[in-house]
Amino acid sequence: MPNYREEIEKRRTFAIISHPDAGKTTLTEKFLLYGGAINLAGSVKGKATARHAVSDWMEIEKERGISVTSSVLQFNYDNCCINILDTPGHQDFSEDTYRTLMAADSAVMVIDGGKGVEAQTRKLFKVCVMRKIPIFTFINKMDRDANDTFDLIDEIEKELGIATCPVNWPIGSGKGFKGVYDRNKKCVILYSDTEKGTKEGQAVEIPVEDTETLVSYIGEEAKEKLLEEIELLDGASAEFDQELVDAGELSPVFFGSALTNFGVEIFLKYFLSMTSSPLPRKSDAGIIDPMEHDFSAFVFKIQANMNKAHRDRIAFMRICSGKFDAGMEVYHVQGGKNMRLSQPQQMMASDRHIVEEAYAGDIIGVFDPGIFSIGDTICMSGEKFTYEGIPTFAPEHFARVRQMDTMKRKQFVKGINQIAQEGAIQIFQEYNTGMEEIIVGVVGVLQFEVLKYRLENEYNVDIKLETLPYEHIRWIENQEIDLDKIVGTSDMKKIKDLKERPLLLFVNSWSVGMVLERNKGLMLTEFGRN
Ligand code: G4P
Repeated sequence: MPNYREEIEKRRTFAIISHPDAGKTTLTEKFLLYGGAINLAGSVKGKATARHAVSDWMEIEKERGISVTSSVLQFNYDNCCINILDTPGHQDFSEDTYRTLMAADSAVMVIDGGKGVEAQTRKLFKVCVMRKIPIFTFINKMDRDANDTFDLIDEIEKELGIATCPVNWPIGSGKGFKGVYDRNKKCVILYSDTEKGTKEGQAVEIPVEDTETLVSYIGEEAKEKLLEEIELLDGASAEFDQELVDAGELSPVFFGSALTNFGVEIFLKYFLSMTSSPLPRKSDAGIIDPMEHDFSAFVFKIQANMNKAHRDRIAFMRICSGKFDAGMEVYHVQGGKNMRLSQPQQMMASDRHIVEEAYAGDIIGVFDPGIFSIGDTICMSGEKFTYEGIPTFAPEHFARVRQMDTMKRKQFVKGINQIAQEGAIQIFQEYNTGMEEIIVGVVGVLQFEVLKYRLENEYNVDIKLETLPYEHIRWIENQEIDLDKIVGTSDMKKIKDLKERPLLLFVNSWSVGMVLERNKGLMLTEFGRN
């Protein structure tokens, strides 16, 4: 019987999703603080790295040799070993941001209470829904004027299409923020500005029946409003149901202020009690149990080295079962080879360190001499199964690539294919024409710069990118459909991927609906199969 059950049961692996500036970094810092991982908040990736301009980005990447813009943070709290997967935003937003969600068991969605649901949250949320993972909502910045609480909840439900269950409820916001009401414990936890990075502040809890004390702290008016809202809420909101949470159909909602460190620990405690350790995953050989099965993992991200002298890469893998020991012999299923994973490492804030052992739920990065692809499975030698592949996510920006020197065709094809294999870009071709015309699709525009830079520097090939107006791409699910017979819109373009699968590009999102209407039986999807 494997002896790693206890270690795996402690694991909680989640991603934080948000729109830039909602407070993801601040909240992560506060989590780490509770885990004692850092003395003072502030050592998570610096702002300078998070908000650099494109040119700086290249410099940073070159200097460090590897991107530090996306990392995994591990810390211990309350007998749990927590892995936080960062989902890069800002200019770093790319397909990797989506892929990170494939490695998480649950997601925490941070929403700015003054802004509500924003674009990037919406995009990342869709991927969580596709994966049916539990989604927790943390409504942040309650120390600033926030939107009406009922409106916020309503917006999440309507815009994202998920039921919500507020676990606590804010009392006012901005200057009038008095704390939160814990619906479970039926008590009010008073707001105290324990401030930027210390956890010394002692929480004051007042049972809601103790009206006298409550009024003395929050005033008559706030108390009246709270009682009214609780009544409304109890009558209107969904009840907490762990099964629905597990299925990703009900999102527990929390309120707080990451900056002033209020509501963070309350959230963390509930979150840990409402999430599970790594769950069994599907493979082509059946369900693999994380605790019963020996080591297995899948690659969800490949990070290229920007340094031209070293064309090596780091493959990030999520351990799905068993225990990993450095130096153990494993089997790379897609490569069909036994191998040892070299230089396995884990990220801690912006530091990397070599790991000796890791368990299901953990993420490790290994040195990749160019053999891994996204979605590959690694298991013990003697075994052979593959985990479900990672889908291709819809790019939102497209450009036609023109190669300046036709003599360098070979390098160009090699380079662009290599970069596509790492998952930084997707390559398409004109439908019905030869290979000459290549269309590149990316999730974040920065990837265009990266492509140009890398082709020039690593493959000595100059290219010109001509931006195309398309923003929406759809894979055709029912491939028996005759593409020539599709009745399109004026802004629609037919293309194909490298596996000759047909796709449609659109300038406007409403055209997608129009084409579906005009072609009965046509099935389109935003997630492509690899
Ligand atoms: P992100 O990772 O989601 O992009 O957001 P981040 O944590 O960097 O926060 C964005 C800005 O919002 C930061 O301010 C941060 O201090 C602020 N912030 C985060 N949480 C709260 C909160 O609960 N209340 C208030 N009032 N502000 C919050 P900044 O001025 O842009 O950056 P900085 O100079 O403070 O680092």
